Amino acid sequence: MSGSLSANTSSAMREREREERFEELLVDEHTQNPFASLPSFASSRRPPSMSLHFDNSESVLSSVQNYYGKVLQKTEDLRTSACTLAQRPTHPLYLRALSNVPPEVSAKFYGCGNPVPLGISGLHVLDLGSGSGRDCYLAAQFVGENGFVTGVDMTQEQLDVATKCIPEFTRKMGYAKANVRFVKGYIEFLKDAGIAPSSLDLVISNCVVNLSPNKKLVLQEVYNALKTGGEFHFSDVYCDRRLSDAVRSHEVLYGECVSGALYTNDFLRMAKEVGFGDPRQVSKSEINIYDPELKEILGEARFYSITYRLFKLPALEPACEDYGQYATYKGSIHGMTHSYILDDHHKLETNKPHLVCGNTASMLSETWLAPHFTVVGDRKTHFGPFPCGPADAATSSASSSSSCAPGVSCSSGSCC
Ligand SMILES: C[S@@+](CC[C@H](N)C(=O)[O-])C[C@H]1O[C@@H](n2cnc3c(N)ncnc32)[C@H](O)[C@@H]1O
Repeated sequence: MSGSLSANTSSAMREREREERFEELLVDEHTQNPFASLPSFASSRRPPSMSLHFDNSESVLSSVQNYYGKVLQKTEDLRTSACTLAQRPTHPLYLRALSNVPPEVSAKFYGCGNPVPLGISGLHVLDLGSGSGRDCYLAAQFVGENGFVTGVDMTQEQLDVATKCIPEFTRKMGYAKANVRFVKGYIEFLKDAGIAPSSLDLVISNCVVNLSPNKKLVLQEVYNALKTGGEFHFSDVYCDRRLSDAVRSHEVLYGECVSGALYTNDFLRMAKEVGFGDPRQVSKSEINIYDPELKEILGEARFYSITYRLFKLPALEPACEDYGQYATYKGSIHGMTHSYILDDHHKLETNKPHLVCGNTASMLSETWLAPHFTVVGDRKTHFGPFPCGPADAATSSASSSSSCAPGVSCSSGSCC
């Protein structure tokens, strides 16, 4: 009796702590002001309202759940191209892996990019907002039997499709036991979904963070869940400006991953504030809105699908600094024999030493990428700001001529 009483008390305390944590962290992502009147996200006891009140996180979440659980049945039901922008990868390893993804999973793919990197054998991976599980089934093939993939999503209908396919997929792969699982939970509360702090090598996500009423909380949770040296590698929708509340509260545009999009500079600021120094952009493509009615509401705002890499490396510096370090790619990642593309301005040719800034040296030597690179030098001697390369120089190395001001961070967006 007393045992169950204390269990109830501690669960009530945990709930209260969670609510307080949420209230504390719940800030307007544009102005950074706390929403004083916001109801608790955690208390989902009230019946959800189907109208989207942007300043009510419960309403946002239940609207998104309804959209992905009930309104959309398949990719073709989408009204904009935001969640379908992901071009089918052309690399043979992806094509082979895609052919092993259960068809009912692929039929409900709503991603806007490709956040699953090659070379992740043996890693522990988490997919935020895994939906029907396409990227989890891709990643499960790349991590192999010694790795493990967890998908987290709040929508039961999506989880049902994803989970149902696990036995068939495991048999098809010839694995002794499943290396993928799906859990119900909110990406704002990963610990409550059973994701232990500092437990993951890699977190991926495809077109989900824009749907969260508190993106900064999501970034903070991901940072906490990653091991030091871990990476958040994710594709999402971004905007070239801050959108008005009227636009942000449009239910269809929000559900379609458009009007919840962060202004890119706000995202970069938030990422740095939670500890992800020097975010790296991998790819960027514009999203076209063809529906005349929706286009009219959006006005001149332009939207992009961007894939970023955020590394949990506490020693990353705000700007690229030159310590005379150089890195050489060993050509050892399966499927990337001739070169490795770290981001949109670092393509490292196999066996060719490349001068790199201190931050890039850390990304290549203190993360899951370390076995594939030799990095020479340390940070003992500083030679001044590092001239980082132009944004579209994925075909040239960091040692190529520079078009931007020295001392600018690789994440600034203004230059490199
Ligand atoms: C655009 S779909 C993308 C699904 C999947 N990543 C894909 O590429 O097919 C968004 C998914 O994120 C989930 N989602 C949105 N907000 C969430 C939140 N706050 N917590 C957990 N899941 C969320 C939705 O339920 C939905 O399945």
